[in-house]
Amino acid sequence: MDQKIFTTVDHFVTDTLLEEDEGLREAVRAAEAAGLPSIQVSPPQGKLLQLLVRLVGAKRILEFGTLGGYSAILMARVLPGGGRLISLEANPEYAEVARRSIERAGVGDRVEVRVGPALEALPALEEEGAGPFDLVFIDADKVNTPNYFDWALDRTRVGGLIVADNVVRGGSLGDATDPDEATVAQRRLHEQLRGEPRVSATTIQTVGGKGYDGFLIALVEGD
Ligand code: SAH
Ligand code: DHB
Ligand code: MG
Repeated sequence: MDQKIFTTVDHFVTDTLLEEDEGLREAVRAAEAAGLPSIQVSPPQGKLLQLLVRLVGAKRILEFGTLGGYSAILMARVLPGGGRLISLEANPEYAEVARRSIERAGVGDRVEVRVGPALEALPALEEEGAGPFDLVFIDADKVNTPNYFDWALDRTRVGGLIVADNVVRGGSLGDATDPDEATVAQRRLHEQLRGEPRVSATTIQTVGGKGYDGFLIALVEGD
């Protein structure tokens, strides 16, 4: 089993089950042309995000980490009328690429990209009363995943979801001796959730075109 077969299977799944989306294809092209790293969710993972948005009937979504807008466009596509997605991005150049792609994809009316380190954007969201959110997708700087999760937990409605990408990190999640700060943060997040009665969560390991990683899904159960 190697990367080649994971990629081949991802292509097969994409070709058989996923809808064509010119806006998404254009977003990938624009991101590549602008030199952004190709670290957006894979198409099958993106489809899962869409299914989750639909399953919870999400109308308010918060995303940490916009990159070129790929996951934002995906989720915005399946928002019901009046739905809204706010996406936080530290890098102003990425945010600009994302805004153009989001506009081109026809979802500019329901997506807002905010520039700046996500932690600094949170007080303004709070003041505006931007929440409560139905779904929060955490996919920015991995050392802060537990901090974003903490903030999101208080602002996600009961029955809502918090999804954190890249928690498995090539399997290092299972290694208590790994000194990498991003890995330590994912382990800490899991430890935190063990004693958290407001959340029921699991982590799913993934292989695919983007290698070996995984995501955590947490259902918010109480206040
Ligand atoms: N969700 C995107 C991928 C995001 S990649 C998709 O699937 O399409 C991670 C992004 O987080 C990068 O664009 C990076 O610039 C951004 N980022 C890194 N540190 C951040 C921070 N402190 N606040 C907000 N965004 C940050
Ligand atoms: C990285 C970030 C991601 O969100 C991802 O899915 C893969 C890699 C990164 O920062 O390297
Ligand atoms: Mg990611």
